[in-house]
Amino acid sequence: MTAGNGVMVALDHLSKHFGVEKAVDNVSLAVAKGEFVTLLGPSGCGKTTTLRCIAGLEQPDAGEIRIGGDVVVSVARSRYLNPEDRNIGMVFQSYAVWPHMTVFDNVAYGLRVRRAPAAVIKERTTRALELVGLGQLAERYATKLSGGQRQRVALARAIVYEPRVVLFDEPLSNLDAKLREQMRVELVRLQREVGITSIYVTHDQSEALVMSDRVVVMNKGVIQQIGDPQTIYAHPANTFVANFIGVANLMEGTCLGRDGGFCALEIPLGDGRAPLRVRVSGAEGAAKGQRLILSLRPEDISLHLQQPDSIDSNLFAGEVIDTVYLGSFLECRVQVGRHEVGIQIDHYEQLSPGQTVFLTFRPDHGLCLTE
Ligand SMILES: Nc1ncnc2c1ncn2[C@@H]1O[C@H](COP(=O)(O)OP(=O)(O)OP(=O)(O)O)[C@@H](O)[C@H]1O
Ligand SMILES: [Mg+2]
Repeated sequence: MTAGNGVMVALDHLSKHFGVEKAVDNVSLAVAKGEFVTLLGPSGCGKTTTLRCIAGLEQPDAGEIRIGGDVVVSVARSRYLNPEDRNIGMVFQSYAVWPHMTVFDNVAYGLRVRRAPAAVIKERTTRALELVGLGQLAERYATKLSGGQRQRVALARAIVYEPRVVLFDEPLSNLDAKLREQMRVELVRLQREVGITSIYVTHDQSEALVMSDRVVVMNKGVIQQIGDPQTIYAHPANTFVANFIGVANLMEGTCLGRDGGFCALEIPLGDGRAPLRVRVSGAEGAAKGQRLILSLRPEDISLHLQQPDSIDSNLFAGEVIDTVYLGSFLECRVQVGRHEVGIQIDHYEQLSPGQTVFLTFRPDHGLCLTE
């Protein structure tokens, strides 16, 4: 990958082992200037290690990192720039504010150690505090702040010296659900306003979808997919991504060939039942007889009490297992042969366990995956 114009952070074949374990495995990524990119994946997939390599807190075993075109690490060329020379801001999960200092002094600290002139310190600190909405609380002691306010202090501290990149490692995960949602919106607004290039780490998929320009899904140190939130959700590259982002019903089957721009798929149901035959999008290059996996979102399936007649959709029958109330909608679980299928329903129909129901989904709403 070449760092062309507009690329602020480039990771080139980055790897980092701990013992025999590969925490980061051959990761390449280019983050554009002003872009908000999120590393998303389960616990232990290498998100923090990737950030720490960028920050200079961890030395990779292979690869190169460039920031604004400058090579900050190159294993091949034995180049390694110290963290303080990389001009990076960082915000972590635990809001490490200094309790014995005021809000202003907490934020000004980074400029003072850099020996900035007093007038610059005053101007930049005031501006950073205004940006995070803490202008009124500048003289308050950090101990007298709420969790959300403390996290804003941490944010102001990361942006006050106008770094080229800000790295965020699960900065909102210590906040309660309501505040977390509010802070997501504020953080994105701030990020857009200041135009800071941001690399954000979370294992919360809804956070990643709401906040990011692009999402990088990782598993076991390996990038699974890079894309904008809509693409990641609607066109997951594999079953890992389909399962990790939202909920997916996955059913294994065999390719029967192409049919009118769609892939025809046969899914065995077991129990002596006839296999399902469906037409879905995806797997363009799949050959007849190839093993494929159908991925279906719960909200893309319609549930009917009577068998619908003459439809273009895929149709199959099943028996209700149960329904689960999830606040704004219900999820109904239906047994379809050996598969359990989750369906999102918003109406409060009386469904009893064991009852036969009919499920339909449009060919363009199902997706065929090869792995
Ligand atoms: N200093 C270390 N020594 C040994 N192993 C480590 C060290 N740091 C991380 N690891 C291992 O590397 C892998 C990746 O860890 P990392 O902290 O990057 O994961 P993560 O994606 O940030 O996870 P989480 O969501 O739990 O924070 C894990 O298996 C972890 O146990
Ligand atoms: Mg982590």
